[in-house]
Amino acid sequence: MSGSTNEFEGLDALDGRQVIGRRIVWHEETESTNDDARHAAEAGECEGLVVIADVQTAGRGRMSRTWTSPPGRDILFSVLLRPDVTDLPKMPLVAGLAVARTLDAFTDQPVTLKWPNDVRVANRKISGSLVESGSSKSGYFAIIGTGVNVNMDASAHPEISKIATSLRTLTGESVSRREVMRKLLFEMDRIYSSPEHMGSLVSDWSARLETIGQEIDVRWGDEFIHGLAEGVDETGRLLLRDSSGELRLLEAGEVTTQLAGQ
Ligand code: BTN
Repeated sequence: MSGSTNEFEGLDALDGRQVIGRRIVWHEETESTNDDARHAAEAGECEGLVVIADVQTAGRGRMSRTWTSPPGRDILFSVLLRPDVTDLPKMPLVAGLAVARTLDAFTDQPVTLKWPNDVRVANRKISGSLVESGSSKSGYFAIIGTGVNVNMDASAHPEISKIATSLRTLTGESVSRREVMRKLLFEMDRIYSSPEHMGSLVSDWSARLETIGQEIDVRWGDEFIHGLAEGVDETGRLLLRDSSGELRLLEAGEVTTQLAGQ
């Protein structure tokens, strides 16, 4: 590797945060920060660990996709959390809402969510999160792995050129990854560490959902379900009225309909 410097140095000073980022590990290159965080969890690490990488050689997204990001341009990180087991299904919502609130500070355009946790600006995806969970001797854990397109030029990557954007593309200027990361750690911690914010999480998150009221197709395992997205329930499950009129509750499916602009 070329020996790049750690732009995120010193962000582990908590600065009022309670949990997230109490220890931050930076890698110039790794396979997947989600795997690094999982290994730490299995070795007994306490919650709040953040693993950041400048580049991933095996970064992965939801539904077995790969996550594309050129070296040193974007934010690629994973957070190890040990939430109450009843809060585990809400971890994708924590990720999506924290990213959306962070990006509000860096763009004038509305930042929306596509269920369950794609973050979109100008009808294009700018961030996604892959939440994985497990258990070890120290109990249950969740890994929130998030990629935020900060300075990448999506048009240089044919596989995502028509569906992705970045802060730099939106603003026309290079954006400090350190400042985005600082705000993101703050927003994520503010939601996760406060019963008040966790209490309003589903309504705050669903207020940004662009999926509601739309006819969509959802991949649910091997099944494709077409229906009207009527809303979300108190744990973030999508309420989808299928073509037979039945109301389906979908927890971890995937909205596959091409929304406007994709
Ligand atoms: C998606 O939208 O499909 C989720 C993308 C998640 C990508 C992030 S990048 C950091 C972390 N490490 C990974 O291997 N994946 C997540």
